[in-house]
Amino acid sequence: MNLKIAVLAGDGIGPEISVQGVNVMKAVCEKFAHQVSFEDAICGAAAIDAVGDPFPQSTFECCQRADAVLFSAVGDPKYDNDPKAKVRPEQGLLAMRKKLGLFANIRPVETFKCLIHKSPLRAEIVENADFICIRELTGGMYFGEKYQDNDKAYDTNFYTRHEIERILKLAFEYAMKRRRHLTVVDKANVLASSRLWRQIAQEMAPLYPEVNTDFMYVDNAAMRMIQEPAFFDVMVTENTFGDILTDEGSVISGSMGLLASASTGESTPVFEPIHGSWPQAKGKNIANPLAQILSVAMLFDYFDLKEEAALVRRAVNASLDACVRTPEIQVEGGAHYGTREVGEWIVRYIRQA
Ligand code: IPM
Ligand code: MN
Repeated sequence: MNLKIAVLAGDGIGPEISVQGVNVMKAVCEKFAHQVSFEDAICGAAAIDAVGDPFPQSTFECCQRADAVLFSAVGDPKYDNDPKAKVRPEQGLLAMRKKLGLFANIRPVETFKCLIHKSPLRAEIVENADFICIRELTGGMYFGEKYQDNDKAYDTNFYTRHEIERILKLAFEYAMKRRRHLTVVDKANVLASSRLWRQIAQEMAPLYPEVNTDFMYVDNAAMRMIQEPAFFDVMVTENTFGDILTDEGSVISGSMGLLASASTGESTPVFEPIHGSWPQAKGKNIANPLAQILSVAMLFDYFDLKEEAALVRRAVNASLDACVRTPEIQVEGGAHYGTREVGEWIVRYIRQA
């Protein structure tokens, strides 16, 4: 297979983990005789500094030319505490989502046996947690009409039937491939937009008779996720609820540095870790590269390269088992490995496999 990858390393620890993802991808492609090429492009604070735009046209075009985007992280503290800043790194992320039509954000919540003790929840609650949150990514309050003056402000939670149908279709299809349980999360007891979501989901459910579809209010879902995460298989929800619930989901497994995500839609798909740019760790060679490396596994999955994806996951699990881990997940008395060393170990494992 021929793969052209746009590499958007972004800010903070982004560039360090990006390199490890790229190296892993190169090693796997070499092994399976795929042709892969990479093209770097700027985004986030780095792009604001360089050209005044967090997602410049040249980066957009680079993404359009590519088969997939390997994204790392954006964000810089110098913009966080300035409510008057005209441009922010995060706007680059939103622009990328909108321009590439990335309406579906797929965030798996999976646990790694050897890290369960890191979860803030009791082991017996977390043990069997294995679900996917599918978040609608280009609609709702993020992109609806907004207004702000000194005395009032509003954001509009706008959704069309088309937007709801396409994300629900994807969610039903994911459920079919998994344990056939879909939970539609909404706030239909209060919000009109949620009532339309629920109505459309009820219309579509008979098309997937094998799927056990249920509905849950978002407040209740937030509670259920920590009480009984194993209840969930596939969860689908609108943009804002999904933003909140996926952060909650990421801590369940106790290892945010290990979770990857995929955003797919109308054009080039994007694969990225769910964590942020961790500016304090920039250049220190301490950031965990595993989420970025696992996003490469999701990339291979997307192109139906199952063996390639499985090899990446095997290599990651082997590194954990061998205690080749970055400081935040290292066992007591374990040797010190940095971002680079973990990445290099995994590349070696792949070459020798
Ligand atoms: C995420 C992030 C973004 C979001 C921010 C950085 C704009 O929190 O990807 O979940 O709110 O979608
Ligand atoms: Mn978020």
